Amino acid sequence: MEIIIQPDSQQASQIAARIVARLVREKPHAVLGFATGNTPLQLYRNLAVVHGDTGLDFSDVTSFNLDEYIGIPRAHPSSFHSYMWAHLFSHINMPKERINIPDGMAGDIPAACRKYEQAIRTAGGIDIQILGLGTNGHIGFNEPSSSLSSRTRIKTLTDDSRLTAGPGFGGQENVPNHVITMGLGTIMDAKMCLLLAFGKKKAAAVARMVEGPVTAMVPGSVLQMHPRTVLILDKDAAAELKMADYYNWVRDHKPDWQKY
Ligand code: GLP
Repeated sequence: MEIIIQPDSQQASQIAARIVARLVREKPHAVLGFATGNTPLQLYRNLAVVHGDTGLDFSDVTSFNLDEYIGIPRAHPSSFHSYMWAHLFSHINMPKERINIPDGMAGDIPAACRKYEQAIRTAGGIDIQILGLGTNGHIGFNEPSSSLSSRTRIKTLTDDSRLTAGPGFGGQENVPNHVITMGLGTIMDAKMCLLLAFGKKKAAAVARMVEGPVTAMVPGSVLQMHPRTVLILDKDAAAELKMADYYNWVRDHKPDWQKY
């Protein structure tokens, strides 16, 4: 894991945007994996700005989102479909037919999950998977106890996750119990994982993910087994890392060709 600690989420999101923009410039047919939540909002804003200012071209890019609620129509304001259109797709030039988000209204969910996995393979695999981190250590909606080799499937949300999502649904009791999420095995197949985490409330999960054992109880810890994971943290999210000094030294002494 490469751990990059920044003073604030703004600077962290700028680095993340540079990494994504560079890939899209070098590989116009790149395949991006997108996440939702508050964490990647600034990254998406930055990508929209780069698109507007420099014409960064997304017209050949394909995307796959991590997850979606089951039983919530796409048009629902709290669906991940709505989120992605509001925060990214309306502001860049990705063609609709290249955008993939799990269909939480599919009649046959297991078949839709298999089709999603197949579509990722057909697209050539995900080049960069953007990830956030739940306070309980989840990535995507792979809640604690998820199989470390799981594929896209139905998951049942923990109370914790439903509480967090509550405000978007007018209360925790209205949050769907079930979601479709890429599995940990699906995420691990991405060529690069780019995980962002900001704020004090993520500090414990970050420390367990980075410096604790690999365990299904902290699903993000599976990334310790990934050959190319970059974590970009603000200083609050990094506050409980025991080896922060070492990560900072590494960051400050990178050879030029490795700089972001
Ligand atoms: C949700 C999403 C995750 C996201 C996490 C953290 O559970 N399914 O993909 O990373 O929340 O959310 P936030 O970024 O709002 O803290």
